[in-house]
Amino acid sequence: RSAGIIGAPFSRGQPRGGVERGPDLIRAAGLLNRLHEQGCAVKDYGNVAFEDVVQDEPVGLVKRVRAVGSANQRLSEAVQAVKRDGHTSVMLGGDHSLAIGSIHGHSAAVGDLSVVWVDAHADINTPLSSYTGNIHGQPMSYLLHELHTKIPVLPNFSWLKPCVWAKDLVYVGLRDVDPAEHYILKLLGVKVFSMSEVDQLGVSRVMEETCDYLSARGKKPIHLSYDIDAIDPSVTPVTGTPVAGGLTYREGVYIAEHLSQTGLLSAVDLVEVNPLRGQTEEDVRSTVSTAVELLLACFGRLRGGNHPLDYRLP
Ligand code: ARG
Ligand code: MN
Ligand code: MN
Ligand code: MN
Repeated sequence: RSAGIIGAPFSRGQPRGGVERGPDLIRAAGLLNRLHEQGCAVKDYGNVAFEDVVQDEPVGLVKRVRAVGSANQRLSEAVQAVKRDGHTSVMLGGDHSLAIGSIHGHSAAVGDLSVVWVDAHADINTPLSSYTGNIHGQPMSYLLHELHTKIPVLPNFSWLKPCVWAKDLVYVGLRDVDPAEHYILKLLGVKVFSMSEVDQLGVSRVMEETCDYLSARGKKPIHLSYDIDAIDPSVTPVTGTPVAGGLTYREGVYIAEHLSQTGLLSAVDLVEVNPLRGQTEEDVRSTVSTAVELLLACFGRLRGGNHPLDYRLP
């Protein structure tokens, strides 16, 4: 398999500066070389050039609507190009509002998807239910067919059509869910493995059940949307909305390994790495290197080791 890397240096889906530095930091940590060394063909599509939106007054409570709409339209086109070229798409964020364009573009290119959303948060507020007004807490609501009638018309979003069914969505790692979000998850019957289920079942059963659940609804290409804040802040502190009690490093890597082994992983987002949120250099190093290890596992790296098919013992 081959990786098509897209950098998305964008932070307007939330109020904290710094998350736009994620793509270049993850590249600087050696992602492309490491992928290449493990036998994965890599093409870097560079960073998406986002429109500089100046007049962007809030729409109700929702902030930076026009910038987020425009950025995601461009990102969707970039992901479509990567998928047309036959690569597994890797979108380096940037904040999680970018999942709108990433998932839309993926679906526009390949059709119906399964979505695995690994996050401390459900990011399924509607523009009207959100009380922060930050679109990084809302992307799934814009993407679900079932919530279409709950999403008001927003400037720079007319290009977006819902493209995911609730039955094709699984959450892993939740531990900070707003009341409106919890209501939506129950209303739509979305499959959720919160940290309670990770504690109860263990990560291996969670991933077995995730894959069984999705494949019972028809084997489709998988979109993995990985928010770095899913991992415990003791490991990945450098993020805008850290929540205690997260996945261990090992659980986080296991999730990526397991999804890679399905052979269905078709696009990955790695979002919310914000170096300006760190106390120390070590905080940044630990977070960025964890992000890289998660992505390597997505492309087949196993902790038990790997060797090329054509390996010959010297
Ligand atoms: N639920 C909160 C909100 O809607 C927090 C969302 C955090 N999302 C994230 N991608 N880190 O604002
Ligand atoms: Mn999150
Ligand atoms: Mn499985
Ligand atoms: Mn998120």
